[in-house]
Amino acid sequence: MKPEEILKEVAEQVSVCTRCKLHYSRKNAVPGSGNPHASIMFIGEGPGFHENEQGLPFVGAAGKFLDELLADAGLERARVFITNVVKCRPPGNRDPFIEELEACKPYLERQISAINPDVVVTLGRISMSYFISNGKISSIHGRPFWSNGRMIVPMYHPAAALHQPSLREVVKGDFSGLPGLIDQAGETRKNNPDLASMSLNENEDDQDDGVTEQLSLF
Ligand code: URA
Ligand code: SF4
Repeated sequence: MKPEEILKEVAEQVSVCTRCKLHYSRKNAVPGSGNPHASIMFIGEGPGFHENEQGLPFVGAAGKFLDELLADAGLERARVFITNVVKCRPPGNRDPFIEELEACKPYLERQISAINPDVVVTLGRISMSYFISNGKISSIHGRPFWSNGRMIVPMYHPAAALHQPSLREVVKGDFSGLPGLIDQAGETRKNNPDLASMSLNENEDDQDDGVTEQLSLF
């Protein structure tokens, strides 16, 4: 199946999914949107109020800021793919529960493997913990690491930067590094697949921040 067909199938499954309790309160599931052949994918936490209304990811205030960050980095939505770790809105925007993350995981896994991006940017702590179990966002934000053949770049959530103005410049700085990282990741996967397939705990440069493990999920 082509990536676009897989993504369409995932979107259809998600729209009628009852695998976790979040389906009771959703108005629209939010499977994600963007380029099925994107070299970079952004993964947020879960739909908020506006996303639940519209069925599209990052269309509220955090989404406006994300658009700004993407534009500054010379990226536009049509070039990237944006989704969340859970596809239905947690009531009151609470953090998703572990069982909800687990239930929704197969959809995200299928999207990642269909798109096969060189770079995955995690937005916020919950998305980051999909790839690193004990990373501290304050020390590893903006710093790339390899996980199962893909470059992962943890970033602060745009909503956090909206609430904490001191983080704005930090997030902007991290995003400005993305074009270089996309090139680097693409080159490495092409020319040095051994390096790209190295997992985090073998990567010497990343040993020092308490980032010693990755989840077995990916
Ligand atoms: N916050 C998220 O994490 N995801 C969205 O889609 C919107 C806001
Ligand atoms: Fe299904 Fe995911 Fe929605 Fe839960 S959050 S109902 S697992 S699509």
